[in-house]
Amino acid sequence: MSEFVRVLRLDELPPGQKHTVVVDDRIVVLVRVHDDVYCIDDVCTHDGGPLGEGTLDGYLLACPRHGAKFDVRTGAAVTMPATEPTASHEVTVTDGQVFVRLSEE
Ligand code: FES
Repeated sequence: MSEFVRVLRLDELPPGQKHTVVVDDRIVVLVRVHDDVYCIDDVCTHDGGPLGEGTLDGYLLACPRHGAKFDVRTGAAVTMPATEPTASHEVTVTDGQVFVRLSEE
């Protein structure tokens, strides 16, 4: 299992915002909703759209290419045209620092 990697300070990610980072050569999107931070792959499972460039509405991140929406809490695809989840990754916040551990997916 991979280790937690520090990716940014919590104050660099205000509520309702997203931030794309690279962790171990993998591009992931960090999303903050209220005081919670979530992390999913930057890849739409419909046709590879960059989710980090999409629009965030609550817990839903819409792909900028064809509009499929993903739940940032789980990576689940909740609207067409995507039907498969994108990978989600474990996040922890310690002393104002955000850490991500990549899933094995
Ligand atoms: S590539 Fe994301 S909806 Fe088509």
